[in-house]
Amino acid sequence: MNAITPSSAERLVRVPLGERAYDILIGPGLIARAGAEIATRLKGRRAAVITDENVAPRYLDALTASLEAAGIQSSSLVLPAGEKTKSFEHLIEVCDAVLTARVERNDAVIALGGGVIGDLTGFAAGIVRRGVRFVQVPTSLLSQVDSSVGGKTGINTRHGKNLVGVFHQPDLVLADSDVLNTLSEREFRAGYAEVAKYGLIDKPDFFAWLESNWKDVFSGGPARIEAIAASCQAKSDVVVADERENGPRALLNLGHTFGHALEAATAYDSRRLVHGEGVSIGMVLAHEFSARLNLASPDDAKRVETHLKTVGLPTRMGDIPGELPPAEVLMDAIAQDKKVKSGKLTFILTHGIGQSFVADDVPSSEVLSFLKEKHP
Ligand SMILES: NC(=O)c1ccc[n+]([C@@H]2O[C@H](COP(=O)([O-])OP(=O)(O)OC[C@H]3O[C@@H](n4cnc5c(N)ncnc54)[C@H](O)[C@@H]3O)[C@@H](O)[C@H]2O)c1
Ligand SMILES: [Zn+2]
Repeated sequence: MNAITPSSAERLVRVPLGERAYDILIGPGLIARAGAEIATRLKGRRAAVITDENVAPRYLDALTASLEAAGIQSSSLVLPAGEKTKSFEHLIEVCDAVLTARVERNDAVIALGGGVIGDLTGFAAGIVRRGVRFVQVPTSLLSQVDSSVGGKTGINTRHGKNLVGVFHQPDLVLADSDVLNTLSEREFRAGYAEVAKYGLIDKPDFFAWLESNWKDVFSGGPARIEAIAASCQAKSDVVVADERENGPRALLNLGHTFGHALEAATAYDSRRLVHGEGVSIGMVLAHEFSARLNLASPDDAKRVETHLKTVGLPTRMGDIPGELPPAEVLMDAIAQDKKVKSGKLTFILTHGIGQSFVADDVPSSEVLSFLKEKHP
């Protein structure tokens, strides 16, 4: 057995979902220990590793070696990087690879990569043999703090993002904080928007901590591990309270209604906007919109904007390169993303930093006039 000892910097977050409970380990050197961690938790001795072309050259060999050292035989599939990989076509490819590897129910399907690989692989793991064990080894900040936790899996279709999928919780999440050193600064910042989001939802002290410590989070070390662990804990709390999003899990969508509309308006072109950047602009808009409705102070919106700007995230629609469609078209995208009930929209609004709430009676006319003001 692999006998590398855990570092004292390591953090464990347990997601207490009864029969579906699992551990999230966060810390340095976890890829080297992955085999040992999996072998102590799962009975099977076979694994299929799914990854992408950016991650494979950097981390696939280390993961494979660690599995082998723990007596787990693995095969791998390397897919193209990028959002387009979350497709029916690649789903077939992943299912086929898992079956070819003769992965059975107690064996593991392992996602090694960002949210794209995690969502696609988790979906395949949820449907092959009606569900096989699934291990997330998230390698982007966004996937470590958000997509690898909570069990939402899926692919995109021509009708929109994430429209086909299943809930399938992982059996283990191994977030190796070292691998983030090879992530581009832009992708790191985009993931950071989701970290800040947890503070803005209901943890004002965490937001204040980020305002003071963000540089250390970006440079690595204990503050980075702390921020990832706090984010995973926050996500776990929400997921445990509402696993299938019948209510409070919707709070995780803070900034996402505006953000998704901007992603659609830029045709999901990552050269112009990536998800976390849309969320950053969306969170500022959500705070400003709340202030406009006299629910929160405009100072809070300023404070949110100042912090996100300081770390280098875009905060205004005008920060997006290229032309944006008019407010009416953005409004259509919002209406499509949401169920509009007699002219009312469900929105995540706020009473201030860390005081977000689900509002299900927001008049779409108010949203449109706000958008016109922001994007004349
Ligand atoms: N399931 C959920 O609950 C949930 C939540 C949020 C987002 N998502 C999904 O997650 C996806 C976005 O995830 P993402 O931002 O991780 O995108 P991604 O998987 O495309 O990764 C971003 C880029 O970084 C590269 N990369 C990843 N790790 C790297 C590393 N360590 N070093 C160098 N390059 C690396 C990838 O190859 C890719 O080019 C979207 O599809 C979104 O819908 C899902
Ligand atoms: Zn998000």
